[in-house]
Amino acid sequence: MQSWSSGIKRSGKRIGFVPTMGYLHRGHLSLVERSKNDNDYTVASIYVNPAQFGANEDFGKYPRDLGRDKELLIAAGCDVLFTPEDRSIYPSGYQTYVNAEQITKTLEGEFRPGHFRGVTTIVNILFNLVQPDSAYFGQKDAQQCAVIKAMADDLKIPVRIIVMPIVREEDGLAMSSRNKYLGASERSDALVLFRSLALAETLIKQGERDAKLLEEVIMSQLKKVKTASPDYVRIVNSRTFEEAEILKWGSEYFILIACRIGATRLIDNLLIRV
Ligand code: PAJ
Repeated sequence: MQSWSSGIKRSGKRIGFVPTMGYLHRGHLSLVERSKNDNDYTVASIYVNPAQFGANEDFGKYPRDLGRDKELLIAAGCDVLFTPEDRSIYPSGYQTYVNAEQITKTLEGEFRPGHFRGVTTIVNILFNLVQPDSAYFGQKDAQQCAVIKAMADDLKIPVRIIVMPIVREEDGLAMSSRNKYLGASERSDALVLFRSLALAETLIKQGERDAKLLEEVIMSQLKKVKTASPDYVRIVNSRTFEEAEILKWGSEYFILIACRIGATRLIDNLLIRV
């Protein structure tokens, strides 16, 4: 991977990179499409990174279908698929981890201890292998995007981080590889995430500015659904991820939800400009 990329870079061509854990959907493919637009070559990676899963999480059963993923990437016009193996990423004796300190203390970082340390570590390794000019991430994982931007800034990594909007199913459910875990009735219960985000957006458009009240409204919507158990509902400054109290004119915020539907943990968010 490294020597291919070095050759391409020497010829002055631009490389765009889309890191994934596979089981691809239109959300992933929107990143490939944007990368193709911006660059001469697009590299996608598929690697289910053990370092970002907690001991009680779904690493073992994370959905995998490399054959189908390959077909989707070929159809999307992706140039290179990189599928490294555990023994080359984390050989025995591996001991170096990257950790963004502040921004990982709350939200996903709080409910999934060690998760972002695994993400920043693998993304840093993948950047060193692929040597992209630009890398493409989805706003679906809004905090992940902020963490990776912080890492790239702090470590002076010469990669442009591009964030793309959330791709949703027709009924509003944010696309996710983990949606596969949902049974039929859970699939319709899962719509409560998008519905309650949309309700909050409507209230904000009508003039509501109390972030804590909006969080409570969303929380009470989630709690109406029997299979739903929310981890958090939080409105944060879109850049710093600091908790909002009163929404200020001209500022941008994320409304963030993490909620289990049955045994499946889902996240969703909405970017709002007040
Ligand atoms: P994965 O969950 O496979 O997601 C790969 C990329 O696709 C991420 O940037 C994610 O935000 C984006 N994505 C997922 N669902 C999306 C949607 N509905 N709309 C738009 N983009 C979407 O995120 C990871 O993998 C890993 O943490 C990784 C960055 C690869 C490191 O292991």
